[in-house]
This record gives sequence, structure tokens and C-alpha cells, in this order.
Amino acid sequence: MEPEIFINFKHYDNAVGTNSEKLLTDFKSIKKQNGLYYCMAETDLYLQKSFPGLHIYGQHVDSNGYGAFTGSVSIESLLDLGVKGSLLNHSEKRVDSSIIESVVKKSKELGFKIILCVENLDEAEKYSKLEPAYIAYEPPELIGGDISVSSARPEIIGQAAEICKGRTKLLVGAGVKTKEDVDTSMALGAAGVLIASGIIKNAKPINRLVSLMGNR
Ligand code: G3P
Repeated sequence: MEPEIFINFKHYDNAVGTNSEKLLTDFKSIKKQNGLYYCMAETDLYLQKSFPGLHIYGQHVDSNGYGAFTGSVSIESLLDLGVKGSLLNHSEKRVDSSIIESVVKKSKELGFKIILCVENLDEAEKYSKLEPAYIAYEPPELIGGDISVSSARPEIIGQAAEICKGRTKLLVGAGVKTKEDVDTSMALGAAGVLIASGIIKNAKPINRLVSLMGNR
């Protein structure tokens, strides 16, 4: 099975606004876009219309629809931009469980894909029951570091995969940097990875992404 690779642009200065456009222009030169997803800052989601061949996701979404909701990012507005999915409950943007439940429910009604981030196996167990499109397991202490989840916590990936089996697909993230990290995660039962600094903070993001994809 081919890995699904989600690249979280976060709010790094080289990955927002015109810089995010430059990165996407670079990434667009990769021929094989199936299985590659770009998670953009809210302000850059309009770029889906400029890059119709790329799969652009949000970094956060709310359950309300259109209306008097200051500061909201609605599923409806993302769908109108051509954006087909979003992260939710990332470690850097945690939300209450009642919000998680309503966003996942609505996303399924509207055909929108939620990547629901969890920090531990208890959350994986609790939230996989909602059957979001993906559960993304990321140990918070490894996020942004040099030690990958697949080298530091391989056993947890297997356990998370067992929990998600038959309910949803599993992604893993935190410290992912190499093709070996991707291959190990896949061998342990993940469908793919969620990666940020390993690509975005690299001096040559596209080279790192291509090397992480290997010869696939
Ligand atoms: O969303 C991906 C993320 O939290 C992992 O970050 O920098 O460890 O790849 P990083």
C-alpha cells in the first residue's frame, strides 16, 4: 500500500502567504500527487483554486455553518473553496470533546474528511469510535524534535493501528524526517504520516519531500 503523506505547513514564516504559494509551486512539480496532502494556514486555503491538482487541507475547522460566528472556519466555507478536509484537535489547537463530536458528525454528513489528532491511546480509543476519516496519533513531546515517533514509540503505533482497525485509517506524526520513518510506520499498520518541520524547516523542502517518498 502507498503511504499517505500529510504535510502540515503550520504557521512557519516560510510557509504562509506568498511563501506558501512558492512552496506549493515547488511541490506541484512532483508528478505523483496521489497520496500527498498539504495542510495550509486558514489564510492560504484560497490557494486550492490556484492549484487544482494538489490536495489542500485546512489546519482547523469549526462545526458552525455560515452566519454570525466571528473567527470561525466553517466546513461549508472550506468546501466552497474546493478544500476537501482538515486537521482537527492538533496538539497546538486542542478543542473540547463536544466540539470534536459535532465537527466529525457534520463532516460525515457533508462528505468532508477530518484528520482527528490524538495525543495518546486513550484518546485514540475514544475518538476512533466516531469514525472520522483518519486518526492522527502524535506524541506531543516528540513534535518538532529530532527523534521520530517510529523510532521512539514503535510499539504504540502498532497498538494505535489495532485500535483503529475497522473504524478509521491511522496516521502517525512527530519528528518524522526520513523514508525509513515512513516505511516503519507503514509496517506497523499506519496508512501514512503527518509531517511538518522535517520538510518545512529543511533548507530544501522539496528535496526532503522527494527523498521521503523514495522511488514510489
Ligand atoms: O502536524 C504535524 C506535526 O505536529 C508534527 O510536527 O515538526 O514533528 O513534523 P513535526
